[in-house]
Amino acid sequence: MILVTGGAGFIGANFVLNWLAQCDEPLVNLDSLTYAGNLQSLQSVAKNSNYHFVQGDIGDKVLLEALLQQHQPRAVVHFAAESHVDRSIHGPADFVQTNIVGTFHLLEAVRHYWGGLSAHQAGAFRMLHVSTDEVYGSLKDADAPFTEQHAFQPNSPYSASKAASDHLVRAWHHTYGLPVLTTNCSNNYGPYHFPEKLIPLVIHNALAGKTLPIYGDGQQVRDWLYVSDHCSAICAVLQAGRLGETYNVGGWNEKTNLEVVHAICAHLDLARPLPNGSYADQISFVTDRPGHDRRYAIDASKLANELGWKPAETFETGIAKTIDWYLNNQDWVLNVTSGAYRDWVSQQYVTAQA
Ligand code: NAD
Ligand code: TYD
Repeated sequence: MILVTGGAGFIGANFVLNWLAQCDEPLVNLDSLTYAGNLQSLQSVAKNSNYHFVQGDIGDKVLLEALLQQHQPRAVVHFAAESHVDRSIHGPADFVQTNIVGTFHLLEAVRHYWGGLSAHQAGAFRMLHVSTDEVYGSLKDADAPFTEQHAFQPNSPYSASKAASDHLVRAWHHTYGLPVLTTNCSNNYGPYHFPEKLIPLVIHNALAGKTLPIYGDGQQVRDWLYVSDHCSAICAVLQAGRLGETYNVGGWNEKTNLEVVHAICAHLDLARPLPNGSYADQISFVTDRPGHDRRYAIDASKLANELGWKPAETFETGIAKTIDWYLNNQDWVLNVTSGAYRDWVSQQYVTAQA
């Protein structure tokens, strides 16, 4: 079986659903259920005998040791993190705690468990650390996309905490021989994406008749990947990645934020036409994010050449699937946008519009 951390979040939940749909291997999901973790995303597998959920923190050493001993996983896939750049600007402490200290505790527990395995089991064991392209910093318009050799130049508290966790994972391989793999992926989008991030926020606000907030001039570039393509890349690296290596994951889909928002509005204009005008009329330019990275772009050729991975979706097919999912799952959106979500939106966007 495998142990997944953070499987109730956006990418983790998609990974868990895809895993259980595609193979018979049991999976344990350890998640502390922060504001970003949502068991409703996993309702369809809650009774699956191959699925086991444990609510707990990756910083809880005693729990980690017990879980590893009890379930004897052949692999750990580590998604759990604080993941939102804007929240990291308002309050970096949780990012240091979970992304750095939490990853450290997980590495130590895994090292201890791995050290007690038989030679055969230890040889087959893998820990895959899920990270981001944001560790590489920001590109200029004419720069080549990030390769795995690009220096780490993180600019936000979020990306700095992820870069630190990547360094810990690397060091645990070089020093202790822990069989680790790291993936650095570009921006994901798709079902079960919490509406604090650009794409789900814009879909949600458009349908609610609210403004679509564009930070600064909207010319920042992100390289978008449909979430199930990220999940298939993780499976490919877990299966055949070279130990201690990092693999960049991306969809060769660079878009400015304004292009993304216009694409969403155009799709919604067809799927849910307004009586008058376009959803694009709701676009509103707001104060820029402090330290806003201008451009991310991933060179995923190592993953393609070594492991034969390529994305199944283009931006056009992926965004259409995503918008249709949100249109058909408004109860999920309603559930996650109550209470604490409203507090976040009023804190973030009142400041941004001031
Ligand atoms: P998310 O914020 O949607 O989910 C994070 C999950 O981790 C939540 O379920 C949360 O409850 C859980 N969690 C947080 N702190 C925890 C702790 N201390 N112990 C146990 N569980 C905890 O994040 P996501 O977008 O699904 O991202 C998953 C991973 O992928 C992260 O490591 C992130 O850095 C990385 N990543 C994300 C993107 C993206 O575009 N979203 C791109 C590249 C890499
Ligand atoms: P986001 O989805 O938060 O991902 P990240 O910051 O990790 O790339 O933001 C994507 C881009 O969209 C980023 O350049 C910031 C911008 N953005 C807006 O313009 N308005 C918004 O309301 C949000 C949430 C993001």
